[in-house]
Formats: sequence, C-alpha cells, structure tokens
Amino acid sequence: MPFATQIHPRPGNLAESSADLWVIPVLSGDNGPTEVEGVADSGLTQVLPAPLTDLFAHYSLAGKPGESAQFPVPRDQGLVRLALLGVGSGTPDDLRKAGAALARAARGKEHVAFAWPGFGAEAATAFAEGALLASYTFSLRSTEPPADQRPAPVIDVVGPEDLADPLDRGTRLAAATALARDLINTPSLTKDPAWMAVRAREVAEESGLQVRVWDEKDLEKEGFGAILGVGRGSSRPPRLVQLSYTPEDPTGHIVLVGKGITFDTGGLSLKPNENMSLMKTDMSGAAVVLAVLSALSAMGSRARVTGLLALAENAFSGDATRIGDVLTTYSGKTVEVLNSDAEGRLVLADALGYAVARLEPDVIVDVATLTGAAKLALGTGMAALYSTDDALAVELENAGKASGEPLWRMPLTEEYVPTTESRVADLANIGTRGEFGPAGATDAALFLRAFIGDVAWAHLDIAGPGRSTKESGLLSKGGTAFSTRALLRWLAER
Ligand code: BES
Ligand code: MN
Ligand code: ZN
Repeated sequence: MPFATQIHPRPGNLAESSADLWVIPVLSGDNGPTEVEGVADSGLTQVLPAPLTDLFAHYSLAGKPGESAQFPVPRDQGLVRLALLGVGSGTPDDLRKAGAALARAARGKEHVAFAWPGFGAEAATAFAEGALLASYTFSLRSTEPPADQRPAPVIDVVGPEDLADPLDRGTRLAAATALARDLINTPSLTKDPAWMAVRAREVAEESGLQVRVWDEKDLEKEGFGAILGVGRGSSRPPRLVQLSYTPEDPTGHIVLVGKGITFDTGGLSLKPNENMSLMKTDMSGAAVVLAVLSALSAMGSRARVTGLLALAENAFSGDATRIGDVLTTYSGKTVEVLNSDAEGRLVLADALGYAVARLEPDVIVDVATLTGAAKLALGTGMAALYSTDDALAVELENAGKASGEPLWRMPLTEEYVPTTESRVADLANIGTRGEFGPAGATDAALFLRAFIGDVAWAHLDIAGPGRSTKESGLLSKGGTAFSTRALLRWLAER
C-alpha cells in the first residue's frame, strides 16, 4: 500500500517549523551522549526545560541509534512535543535505525520536523529508507487503524544541507521494497501465478520495461518441464514472466531470477499446518525481482537487466507430481522428485536453464525463500549467499552492508556434490547422500549450480530474513522483501 508518509528536505531551522513534533539528534560520543554542533542552538535553547546534557542524564540517553525520549516545550503560548533521538555515531546504518525509530515514535502525529545533523548523502538516503519502511503497513481490516497508530503524513528534514536527491533515492529504495511487500503480503486466495503475471505487466507498463509472459501452453511447447511439474497439482496454472530493462549503451547484462511459489503446501510431501501458515510468502524472490526491475530506470542503472519470475502454486491434489516422478527441465537435464516440498529449486532450474541457453547473461543472481536450513543456520537477520565468483560475492556483500541487509557467504563444497545424484535421473531434488549431510541450504545451492553452466552466478537464500513475526525497526509483520535494496544498490553502482 502506498506510503502514508512523505519526507521533505527543508531549509531553515527547527524553531521556525510549525510541526507538532520537533526532533533533535543525540550522538553517542566517546565520553557519553553529545549534542550535534549547531543543531540545538537553532532557536531552541530558550525553550528547553534544562541544558541538553542534563536532559540526556535525566532520560538516561546514551545516544544509541533509535533511542528516544519525548517531553513538551513551550511554543506560541501553547506546547509542542520535542523528542531527543539517538543517532549513534552518524553512520548510514545508525541513521537508518534512527529514521525507523523516529517514524515509530511519530505515529499519531501530523507533522514531524527533524533537525538534520549533517551526516551527508548516504546517511540521508538511509534515514529516508528507515523512516519510510517503518511507516509501511499492510492491512485488509475493514476498519482504519486507531489515530495514535497512523504514520505521520509529513516528516521534514530540516537543515542547510541540500538533501533533495539523497532523500529521493531513499524514497525510491523504500518504495520498491513496499511494492514487493504488498505482493508478498497478499493472501494466496487472491495471488496465483496468473495474478502475479498481471501485476508484472502493470509494473512493466509503469516503469517502461519490456515484458513477456509464458502461460501453461507456452511452457509446455517450450519444454519448461520443472515449472509445469511443480504447478501440476494446482487448478491455477503456472507462469513464467520475463521483464527487460535496457538502458542506452549498457555496461553488461545481468539476469535476476526469482522463486515465485504463490503458495507452498509442500505438495504430496505435505507440510504440517504450522509450517504452511506463512507460505503465501514463498514468492518473495519473484516479488523482489519485480520490485528491483521497477526501480532501475529511476535509480539510473547502467546495466541491462532481465528479470525472470518463475511462478507456480505448489498444491496438494490427485494431479500433483508424485514422489519418484522424473521431470525434464528446460536444459534437458532430468530431475527425480524425491520430495515435492523441494519445489523451489525445480522452478528455478527451468528459469536458470532458460537464462543460460537464451539470454547471454554476464551474471545471474537468483533470489529465493529456498530452505528452512538457511534460516536455521543464519536466523532471520541475514541471507545465505552462495556464489561461483569471488568478485561478484564481494560486490553483493558490500551492497548488503550498505543497505542494512547482510548477506553471509556460504561454501559450495565440492565434496558434497554427490548429494545431488539420483538413481534414475541426472539429479535428485533433495540431498541423497548422508556422508556429510544433511546440509540443506548447500544441497539446494549445489543443485542450482548444475544449471548455470559457466556463467558467473550468485544465489540468495532469503528463507530466514524474508519475513518477520514482529513490528520492529524497518520491518513490518509479514514479508520483508529482504534484498530488494541490496540488489538495487548493487545494480545502481555497476
Ligand atoms: N519454501 C520452503 C522453504 C522455507 C522454509 C521458506 C521456511 C521459509 C521458511 C521450501 O520450498 C521448502 O519447503 N524446503 C524444504 C526442502 C526440503 C524438503 C529438502 C525445507 O527447507 O524443509
Ligand atoms: Mn517447499
Ligand atoms: Zn517453497
């Protein structure tokens, strides 16, 4: 849903603002909390109830990013609320957290003015990301949220620095993330592969992308046996979507592939209800790829980028792919389905095989909520990164760091390759050798690698950080669209 909050750069100073919440930054100095030079003098010292250092002590503020305290101060015969907001040491990461905390503390207010501490463009971009993403909500309730929970409509960033471009960049990164979150949070009653393809067409239209959609007949004709196999059990047939962004004189061709399982029951290898309850989010990879493509032109990316959304519903029915069935993928390689719940790698295999055979990519990156094992290994704070290319891995790691979306590199251990063997087909879709296993996330990555030939490739397993059970920081309950901003930063810089 569109952001209810807008962020504006404003010259001038806080004391002149008619906002109903004034916000002053507090640094975590080496010797305790410190004010940002010049900020508090901007006409405010007269109204503060005590010197700032006394207020820091009174509210036990250390200046940690996101920490805050609020109290009323006089203005024009009345009162206005003033918040002290910890901004850490002023790094982009700190300002992202501070922005998120500010947006949460400002719920119910109409107009917020934040005295910008002057930490530069990257910090301003991160601040906007944090403030907007913490304002993100998704609701299908029939009633409006209570007034004290509504995001503040306006946040002014007040100060002499020219922040229009960096705040705009942060807004675009956040808007792309929100687009993906909306798709991820949409229930699967609404969201099937065809519905996703229609959303992709809309986005393509708005963002000036080329789009091509394969329906089930096209998939059949062209040999996408794995996508069809995964979608076979559903009355709502699968789709493959290709989106193309082509700037002038492109610097290279990057293909992004997203796992788009619009609901994952596990198929005949049925999931227990508890594990199934959040599986409407199993198309997060496809949502992230679509969102990234939507923002490339506005972000000024110089690379040619093709997005592939591998869309299917993994349903349970009499027509569903059986255990022991063998599927022929686009590449010609055959796969024995030993567990129908390992469906993500199947749809990705077709899309990767197609990318390698038809698209002449320089780099392929896939994004998928692929394995519970990745979540078990790394928790919900970071994604597992697998790559055949060290330089590519470093670029992605750096983009992840700059975005507050950490990617942790995992090994493609050669000794584990036999785990992908099948008794009857070229590959099996789950690990089959117990010698070193199970290493669920690595088994899946090694399976995918069998389809990428010698193209430089990276795989992001976002099963852990892809969704959140709490409202905190930049995260809202439900889909997080993790890696949208990291991929956009990476592509904007290439
Ligand atoms: N979509 C799931 C992975 C998942 C699990 C995502 C938890 C988010 C949270 C995937 O399709 C799956 O079911 N993977 C199986 C693979 C296994 C059968 C080899 C898994 O991880 O259990
Ligand atoms: Mn599954
Ligand atoms: Zn899945």
